Amino acid sequence: MKQINSAIALENPKINLTKNQKRFQKFLNRGTPPYEKILLKYHEKRILAILKGEIIPPQELEIQPSSKCNLKCTHCFGKTLTNKNLENKIGEKEMEILAERINNYKEGDFEIESVKFCGTTGEPLINPAMIHGINLFKDLGKNIVVFTNGLYLDKFYQGKKYSDINRLNVSLDAGSERTFMNLKGRVGFSRTVKSLGELIEKRNGKLKVNVSYVISEKNTKEIVKTTKLMDDLGVDEIRFRVDITNPEKIHALSGLIISELNKAKDYSKKHIKVASVYSPNEIKEDSIFHSHGKRCFTQHLWACVGPDCNLYACGHRTYHGIESYGSLLDNSFKELWTSEKRLANLKNLPMTFLDSIKNGKNN
Ligand SMILES: C[S@@+](CC[C@H](N)C(=O)[O-])C[C@H]1O[C@@H](n2cnc3c(N)ncnc32)[C@H](O)[C@@H]1O
Repeated sequence: MKQINSAIALENPKINLTKNQKRFQKFLNRGTPPYEKILLKYHEKRILAILKGEIIPPQELEIQPSSKCNLKCTHCFGKTLTNKNLENKIGEKEMEILAERINNYKEGDFEIESVKFCGTTGEPLINPAMIHGINLFKDLGKNIVVFTNGLYLDKFYQGKKYSDINRLNVSLDAGSERTFMNLKGRVGFSRTVKSLGELIEKRNGKLKVNVSYVISEKNTKEIVKTTKLMDDLGVDEIRFRVDITNPEKIHALSGLIISELNKAKDYSKKHIKVASVYSPNEIKEDSIFHSHGKRCFTQHLWACVGPDCNLYACGHRTYHGIESYGSLLDNSFKELWTSEKRLANLKNLPMTFLDSIKNGKNN
């Protein structure tokens, strides 16, 4: 606990940092909001148990109800990953098996706390069994997050109060019907915005409604307009990313993107929170486009159930050709999570960073 507290204490500008401490501080502060820092702040016990070599359940589990999508976003990283989608096996019965197995895996005080419905190549609301899943996981006391393009929100949620979800993210990416059509291959902007408005009107206090926006050459000019519209609608947060599949275009547009984002950020003073996942420097430089070879530790804290009911290391690696840990229809969560297949490739958390803070080494 002391080590982690001291890691956060590195924020003190009066402390002269060693090279490793500076690297660790950079690691802690990446992203908006800085995910690693939040984990350290709120899940210290979990991180320390992992550092001690304990095998404990992931904090968050993503479930991908479908590998199919109802839109054709030109920027979608999912569509560039494969020409063959994973098999769709999740119906209501399978969702019940998944819920039971996910809930049964506990080690001491640790269990899976959060269930996120999302997709890599697909859209969760394509599969009606997702609604059954939300009810099941809510009854089990899980925190529920849903990522959707929002087009079918009206189809599945008519008359419901949305009270079972804790956070809903609608990947909107446009500020007009024309841009929506141009980006996503079909009409749907007005329909999605109407659902968003109704949902916000009917929600109870708990549900947080976010909108996300992947910036590309097709929608840079609608950044400000969309932010204003979402603010008027009562959306809690709009979060901007840049299209990681097209670095050349993003570099060419970086000046305009940064100035539009700055204008949009003025709305942060109103109701809505405006966040850019990448800093201006990251948008200008090419660091965000090169994650290959960088060490990633999320596999200790997250996992993903693909549309084929198999357990995968990460929600970005659920596509044809990626090996899973095995099927949750045939095995318990613990069997897959503690299997040789998983443990053989697991890299430890950055112990060296924490050690160096503890020992004050300068290397
Ligand atoms: C692939 S989508 C699938 C889930 C669901 N269909 C949706 O639209 O939210 C998951 C998230 O990835 C984001 N995404 C897709 N392509 C991206 C890209 N090229 N760069 C950055 N984020 C991207 C989407 O905006 C969305 O928030």
